[in-house]
Amino acid sequence: MVKFDFHSYNDVDSTYDVESLHQQFIKEHPNVSWYQLDVDTDKIDKLAETIKAHADVFIVVGIGGSFLGAKAIIDALRPYFNKPKPEIIFAGTDLSSDYLNDLLKYIADKEVYINVISKTGMTLESLVTFSVLLDYMKEKYDDYQNRITVTTSDTDGKLYALATNESLNVLSISGDIIGRYSVLTPVGLLPIAVAGVDITALLRGAKKAKENPQAIYDYVRVRKFMREDGRIIESFNVYEPKLDYFTEWLKQLFAESQGKNNNGTLPISTINTRDLHSLGQYFQEGKPIIFSTTIYSDSKIDIDIKAYNKSMSEINRIAMESVASAHYPHTKSNLITLDEINEENMGYLIFFFEMSAMLGSYVLGVDYDDQPGVNRYKEILRNHIFNRDN
Ligand code: PA5
Repeated sequence: MVKFDFHSYNDVDSTYDVESLHQQFIKEHPNVSWYQLDVDTDKIDKLAETIKAHADVFIVVGIGGSFLGAKAIIDALRPYFNKPKPEIIFAGTDLSSDYLNDLLKYIADKEVYINVISKTGMTLESLVTFSVLLDYMKEKYDDYQNRITVTTSDTDGKLYALATNESLNVLSISGDIIGRYSVLTPVGLLPIAVAGVDITALLRGAKKAKENPQAIYDYVRVRKFMREDGRIIESFNVYEPKLDYFTEWLKQLFAESQGKNNNGTLPISTINTRDLHSLGQYFQEGKPIIFSTTIYSDSKIDIDIKAYNKSMSEINRIAMESVASAHYPHTKSNLITLDEINEENMGYLIFFFEMSAMLGSYVLGVDYDDQPGVNRYKEILRNHIFNRDN
């Protein structure tokens, strides 16, 4: 169960018509994949089972929306230690030789499977990293083709050409998939399923959010009000470190969807209570340009702290409530509470935030589904590295 509390804002215009924007979106994008939530989960589960049965290590190569959503969900739903097999490792999120060298050494005596993900098939970080890993796989395995899955949509991309030349398995994705809205499509769902997460339950949660859009409308109104009130930074705060990457995904979702036209709200995050001992000072007494959205869940398995006659979860919750009151009214806070961090609730949150980012873009009058700034960087980098004709 997911609960929403947007209590801090009495002045929000609750008549602002978000519902019409929703209808406009449906008219303009009647069949867009992330909104339809219509996924062949059997196909993904079957592929995931084969990988799980053989792999010690499953390497996911991708950047931006091609890794953030999967990492967010896998981190949230796997234990901190003693994670089940296969180990999921992400690569291609930077251009570090150290990282890749260490990775190659680490996997030397392990059974390796790879999923390279790039919607466009033209992203330099992913292509460079995959070229090294492909050479490694060819050297190590006669059956390397069976161990690699290429997730891409663009048949004009370099990745697709490479997959065709090497006869690799291609998990073809629809052209309308946008990286930051791709968690609940095969882009995110294959790595998530390999990690042992129930993807059907994840989608069930998302469908619940879709059927109950009221909280989404309220949140969109609050964000509009805050921005117009000069609160141009939104901090996503969590009190469970496994949600760290969920906040990274949120940053991408909102920054790329709405940071356009000299406008938008800058998303940041705090992982608490750690960051209360650093950023907390600014939230309490710095320039009043921040508002908070806290995502809170009690732990599944609590620990009694006998010395203080309280449980760890109680103390964590008291910390969260103390922070909200200490920071208020300097930094106002929304509160989203989960009864636990599970598949259904995480699926719910993904869809809740995707819809909010999309509708908030309509409020701002910007396209929710492009990222011209990011593309410009990618193009300049590519032009430096690739010859124009290869
Ligand atoms: O949201 C987006 O579309 C981008 O951030 C992309 O996910 C990112 O740039 C990676 O692109 P690609 O999947 O084409 O490699």
